[in-house]
Amino acid sequence: MTDKRHVRIGMIGYRFMGKAHSHAYRDLSFYFDPAAVPVMQAISGRDEAQVRGAAAKLGWRSYETDWRKLIERDDIDLIDIGAPNNAHAEMAIAAAEAGKHILCEKPLAMTADEAGRMLEAVRKAGVVHMICHNYRFVPAIRYVKRLIDEGRLGRIYHMRATYLQDWIMDPQFPLVWRLRKELCGSGTHGDLMAHSIDLARYLVGELTEVTGMMETFVKRRPLGEMTGGLNAEAFGERTGAVDVDDAVAFLGRFACGALGVFEASRFAKGNRNGNRFEINGSQGSVRWDMENMNHLQLYLEDDPQGMQGFRTIQCTEAVHPYAGAYWPAGHIIGYEHTFINLMHELMEGIAGDRSPAPNFEDGYRNQLVLDAVERSASGRNWITVGS
Ligand SMILES: NC(=O)c1ccc[n+]([C@@H]2O[C@H](COP(=O)([O-])OP(=O)(O)OC[C@H]3O[C@@H](n4cnc5c(N)ncnc54)[C@H](O)[C@@H]3O)[C@@H](O)[C@H]2O)c1
Repeated sequence: MTDKRHVRIGMIGYRFMGKAHSHAYRDLSFYFDPAAVPVMQAISGRDEAQVRGAAAKLGWRSYETDWRKLIERDDIDLIDIGAPNNAHAEMAIAAAEAGKHILCEKPLAMTADEAGRMLEAVRKAGVVHMICHNYRFVPAIRYVKRLIDEGRLGRIYHMRATYLQDWIMDPQFPLVWRLRKELCGSGTHGDLMAHSIDLARYLVGELTEVTGMMETFVKRRPLGEMTGGLNAEAFGERTGAVDVDDAVAFLGRFACGALGVFEASRFAKGNRNGNRFEINGSQGSVRWDMENMNHLQLYLEDDPQGMQGFRTIQCTEAVHPYAGAYWPAGHIIGYEHTFINLMHELMEGIAGDRSPAPNFEDGYRNQLVLDAVERSASGRNWITVGS
């Protein structure tokens, strides 16, 4: 049975997200006073030398070379899934059946059907579940949510979101798992667009119909593997076909009547992590950019005439969600803190026997939008989300 004060974590995968999650578990109690404290019990990876090294470097007490053994262990309360997308469903369903709480990386699954089965499994098992859409936990974005809920922006008319990167533009960048459909499900779409869809659902509400387009600019690449972060190495001369999108764009209608314009690309030169959006309402607008994540641009219609304009707010005051847990105002936080904030909610959820948002239901709904955009792109038409 879970000791409410200590949640013993078993983490699968130890590279990019493994590092981000490990750091967050390690530092959570440093900043917050969580109702449940994470214990970095064990990690799992397939290569023994590498997983042993990762356990030592990232601060885990033990390791396994088979993720199934991790799930079987009695001294693990929560399974954290940071493996490639094709593994999420099998791992999450096995973890739920073993009665473990689950944190799963995004996108939740390869398809909406698979995501639906994962949601069913966690509901049946009665375990706590979350999906790692970490951008929801940026103080500025949390603050936008508050402004919208309080009606400060009025009726929402538009959201336009872009998520732009450029790390695979070199045609010699290898065919890693993130570019192979059988391992990732979709390319830029499930990787970057999934985050924009999550922010759209969080801030503006459900999308009801969509029409999209997708493109693959580089069709063959040398075979290779990720080596950490967004770096990779090629194996040699052999090449393989790229069968996922490099770029995707779609138009969408929200249930509230607002219009959405979305674009995600890994071919947007100079954009390293250009996760941005603008929301326009009858009473005001906001603009946010991840590469300047502590800043929020806010326009309010009720400012005095002559003084109207976008102001820049630095969201590091105690009034801004999570900011008070860190440093005095103006002493900024960064990418890694989004994960700490998320883990804080996860630990509170476990202590309170509830699954904080975003959870598997959000992951499933997100996947319905992803699927609808893909179908509309191949059929060149509009698709009702969930149809
Ligand atoms: N929240 C975010 O912003 C964010 C950012 C990057 C990646 N992700 C997601 O996190 C997940 C992992 O991505 P990453 O960038 O950390 O990848 P990565 O390539 O850096 O690491 C993947 C890890 O999974 C392990 N692994 C691979 N196949 C496995 C298998 N079959 N069984 C067990 N372990 C296996 C690898 O050894 C490695 O440790 C993906 O679902 C990805 O979409 C989320």
